Amino acid sequence: MTTSEPALMLRNIHKTFGGLVAIQDFSLDLFPGSVVALVGDNGAGKSTLVKIISGVHRPTSGEIRLDGKTVKFTDASSARSLGIEVVYQDLALADEQPVYMNLFLGRELTKKPFGLLDKEGMRRASQALVDDLNVRIPSAASTIRDLSGGQRQGIAIARATHWARKLVLLDEPTAALGVAETARVEDLVRSLRKRDLAILIISHSLDQVFRLADRVCVLRRGEQVGIRETRHTDQNEIISMITGVR
Ligand SMILES: Nc1ncnc2c1ncn2[C@@H]1O[C@H](COP(=O)(O)OP(=O)(O)OP(=O)(O)O)[C@@H](O)[C@H]1O
Ligand SMILES: [Mg+2]
Repeated sequence: MTTSEPALMLRNIHKTFGGLVAIQDFSLDLFPGSVVALVGDNGAGKSTLVKIISGVHRPTSGEIRLDGKTVKFTDASSARSLGIEVVYQDLALADEQPVYMNLFLGRELTKKPFGLLDKEGMRRASQALVDDLNVRIPSAASTIRDLSGGQRQGIAIARATHWARKLVLLDEPTAALGVAETARVEDLVRSLRKRDLAILIISHSLDQVFRLADRVCVLRRGEQVGIRETRHTDQNEIISMITGVR
């Protein structure tokens, strides 16, 4: 276990949508250089929690602390500006744009004095980034539309890696991928951990959870069932926590 201070602390988070309780009394610490897997059945509240941490949803009550300081995100960009990046299953890449424009989406480099896009600068920086992360694509000038699912996911993770200062949230990043592509994405997640980022990953694959995570946090119908260290538990225990069946 790491001995550093938590990058993110969640305390007694509640979230209701109208009459529906999506999250109740959820507390968790995420540490730099450590991976927590968030697991639970469909509708358990996993994506809702990621959206709360990334500023998309406001918690109904409870506290979020970043580096020990209470934060209140007003929207996703306020969370991004504090170093939190999200990789969604549905990616949110611009299909018709080249890789380098996607990596700099919303944060484009410009040239002085006229403020024109510095395409060459972004292309070079993007190429260095994908080379560094070993994301195999034809080139940083390739159009997203022409890439495979695994390559696209690599770009989405490269973007998160480039901009995240504290925390990367991954919501089922390999759900649509084949075996080899999944292995590459898992390598990328390990490289994020080496960069000392805190990582929260949602996955329905317990094999993947046990390959990647230091700790596993189980949600059942919005309730936090428990947190286990991966090396002190097994799939059977996690499955019975997810289902409530012993
Ligand atoms: N914007 C919303 N408005 C109303 N209800 C919502 C909203 N988002 C989620 N919910 C509800 O909150 C509950 C938790 O949904 P959530 O998407 O967090 O589940 P999940 O654990 O990510 O499930 P899955 O594994 O299927 O992705 C569900 O009952 C869902 O219908
Ligand atoms: Mg979900």
